[in-house]
Amino acid sequence: MDIAEWLSALEHSPLAELMRHSLWTYPIVEVVHIVGFAILVGAVALFDLRLLGFSRTVSIRALERHLLPWAWVAFLLIVPSGVAMLSAHATEFIANPAFRVKLVLIAFAGVNALVFHGGVYRSVSSWDQHLPTPGAAKASAAFSLALWLGVITCGRLIAYV
Ligand code: HEM
Repeated sequence: MDIAEWLSALEHSPLAELMRHSLWTYPIVEVVHIVGFAILVGAVALFDLRLLGFSRTVSIRALERHLLPWAWVAFLLIVPSGVAMLSAHATEFIANPAFRVKLVLIAFAGVNALVFHGGVYRSVSSWDQHLPTPGAAKASAAFSLALWLGVITCGRLIAYV
């Protein structure tokens, strides 16, 4: 099945029918989406601000251990609710430039996080607390903040484009 057939199947699914015809389902699902990304982007932003050098007394590893599980919980809210909303008008949303750019920025944010965790973060024990963070960690944090700001902006613009 190619992407167009998959989107059409999604748009004609019982889930899509419910999302389109039930008065409260879509708004409730959108609230779940908003709660999800508030937790995700909130957790990411607090970690990035620490990497940028704020609150040096706070251990970066301890902060990561606290925030990362909540970021994953947030994805369990964001992705199903996002797919449910997508199902309601799949072919329309996929043609929406704001939606497309949003998905590309999410992919970049994922790659940026993988490069960070697989790269400079391996040496975190030498800059975990009370010390300046390496330039590569600061660059990754600044890029991450810009990407997630872009994702939220594109998400909001979907309804206007
Ligand atoms: C992973 C991080 C994500 C973030 C931070 C995010 C953020 C947002 C934001 C800020 C909005 C606007 C909400 C509003 O104004 O009420 C939105 C809407 C939307 N999102 Fe996401 N989203 C994410 C992932 C996804 C995924 C994975 C999908 C689907 C595959 C998706 C599908 C949608 C759809 C369809 C809308 C439009 C809702 C509408 O305007 O009716 N989102 N998202």
